[in-house]
Amino acid sequence: MQFLKIKRKCLIPVHVAIIMDGNGRWARQKSLPRIFGHEQGIRTVKKIVKAASCLGIKILTLYAFSTENWKRPINEVESLFSLFAFFVKKEFKELSDLSVCLRILGDLSKFPNDIKAEVDYICGITSKNLGLQLNIALNYGARQELIRAFVEMLRCGIKNPTEEIVSSFLYTAGQPEPDLLIRTSGEFRVSNFLLWQIAYSEIYITDKLWPDFTEQDLKNAVQEFQKRKRRFGGL
Ligand code: FPP
Repeated sequence: MQFLKIKRKCLIPVHVAIIMDGNGRWARQKSLPRIFGHEQGIRTVKKIVKAASCLGIKILTLYAFSTENWKRPINEVESLFSLFAFFVKKEFKELSDLSVCLRILGDLSKFPNDIKAEVDYICGITSKNLGLQLNIALNYGARQELIRAFVEMLRCGIKNPTEEIVSSFLYTAGQPEPDLLIRTSGEFRVSNFLLWQIAYSEIYITDKLWPDFTEQDLKNAVQEFQKRKRRFGGL
């Protein structure tokens, strides 16, 4: 991936989060059932994980299934589950060569037991890997994540929470916040994704549908990020 070489003197975002949108529209444009869009989306996931690692990004967070996605027809939800299972069981092995470490953000309790067991197993065996940290948001909602954190804090008797304490009760505990948030398919929304963590993230929106998103598109987003002046509320 020689072409992914980027000016290292410029800052590479440590943490990149992506709202992978547009699978359904990609399929519709080709008169295919929606699930074909998700299948192609998985291929893009594999490509972009490798490219992120190659670019020197340390943490990649992908929004794969939101708490609101349960509203979709049951056959689409089940197909998405099967695709996750396929990704974790078959495709992830290849990514292990990159020493990828997998963490799931979200509530897996509603997922089928075999998928939960496989995900737990992969998270366990990759937990010590020193390569890219891959966070997959599954049955994830930022509001639900915050409520869960507040409930836990109450349970622990925390009466005076600070920003650091709240952060330490989120699924992303111990990780720096996203520097760059990418959304594909041209929608200008954050859709209940990492609401606490993206307070100061740079946002990059592209019209590309997720299945068409390429390594070069990721590089373009990083280069755009490198041009931004981040002031974090200061001057
Ligand atoms: C949004 O497209 C995409 C999703 C809701 C699912 C994303 C899932 C994948 C890319 C595959 C699985 C991922 C992993 C990490 C294993 P949409 O269906 O909302 O598209 P539309 O807005 O065009 O209808």
